Amino acid sequence: MVLVTGGAGFIGANFVLDWLALHDEPVVNLDKLTYAGNLETLASLQGDARHLFVQGDIGDSELVTRLLTDHRPRAVIHFAAESHVDRSIHGAEDFIQTNILGTFRLLEAVRAHWLGLPEAEKAAFRFLHVSTDEVYGSLSPDAPAFTESHAYEPNSPYSASKAASDHLVRAWHHTHGLPVLTTNCSNNYGPFHFPEKLIPLMIVNALAGKPLPVYGDGMQVRDWLYVKDHCSAIRRVLDAGTVGETYNVGGWNEKPNIEIVRTICALLDELRPRADGASYTTQISHVKDRPGHDRRYAIDARKLEAELGWKPAETFETGIRKTVQWYLDHADWVANVQSGAYRQWVQKQYAAEITG
Ligand code: NAD
Ligand code: DAU
Repeated sequence: MVLVTGGAGFIGANFVLDWLALHDEPVVNLDKLTYAGNLETLASLQGDARHLFVQGDIGDSELVTRLLTDHRPRAVIHFAAESHVDRSIHGAEDFIQTNILGTFRLLEAVRAHWLGLPEAEKAAFRFLHVSTDEVYGSLSPDAPAFTESHAYEPNSPYSASKAASDHLVRAWHHTHGLPVLTTNCSNNYGPFHFPEKLIPLMIVNALAGKPLPVYGDGMQVRDWLYVKDHCSAIRRVLDAGTVGETYNVGGWNEKPNIEIVRTICALLDELRPRADGASYTTQISHVKDRPGHDRRYAIDARKLEAELGWKPAETFETGIRKTVQWYLDHADWVANVQSGAYRQWVQKQYAAEITG
């Protein structure tokens, strides 16, 4: 049994779905179901006794303690977080609450449980913290990619909150001996990605005939990894990672945002041509830049590759084609996540910002 937090979100749900496709080991899935959590993503697990979904907050110590006592997981895989940089700029409170305070409370509940385990279970137990490359800050164009020893230089409220959580996890190992592992991954993309993030937003807006809002000059660089490759890296670190170590996860796929947007347009031109015969690129619209926008991220994944033998299965070309096709095939999923709270927030924050 493993306890997954945030398993109704983008990466957590992909992780749970892949885990149960590969193992019979059950999962307790603790998720608060914020705007980003979506049970529809887990619909294929309905009636599957190996998946126990619990709606709740990682900061609810009583609930977490009860889940740990009742289910005795051998590992906690911690995805739950507020994850969107733009939201953290408009209001950081939830990021501080969940990413920092929530992770602290989770660590404390897990530590108390771990201390009471028999020696063999205690030695085998793992707390795997899922984090981001954004904690390292921004790279200049010719700087080498982030290694695990790069200084922490977070620039957004989101990345500052994730950096704080990484430090807490590190401290709970060094001070309290909790057997932790941390992964710092680059930008993910793939199925079930919430359409507030660049790749799904561009696909969904293109199909709806809306502008494709590229921040600033669009030359900011991100390093893209197909979500299922991130999930395989997490499984590998959980199985074979050295306790107390951190592992950078990335696919060596640095691309400027504008190239990503053009690639999506080209795939849609091929797979779902516009009725008027024009290219989707005509919908590209340069808008006001994100405040404090990091210019470049790039992950050096050699530690994970050399020490644990991990390799991604997808290239960017295969992964982005699968992703565009997935969104074409799942219009209902998109329509449902775009209703309600998400729609109101987007309307409020973005209505005034689209300039082109
Ligand atoms: P997401 O926003 O899609 O999902 C987050 C999930 O956490 C949601 O299901 C939400 O309901 C849940 N959640 C939020 N607050 C909670 C709380 N207090 N208690 C319980 N559940 C709560 O995020 P994601 O993109 O799937 O990211 C998952 C993790 O991976 C995050 O920790 C993020 O920092 C990290 N990460 C993301 C990326 C990326 O590109 N998306 C890259 C590297 C690391
Ligand atoms: O690097 C890992 C991080 O990647 C994760 O830790 C975060 O949880 C995840 O959200 C992601 O952060 P980014 O800020 O890089 O992702 P986002 O999809 O929001 O933006 C990707 C790039 O595209 C970024 O340079 C901003 C730009 N962008 C984004 C949106 C939503 C646009 O130009 N237009 C947009 O409308």
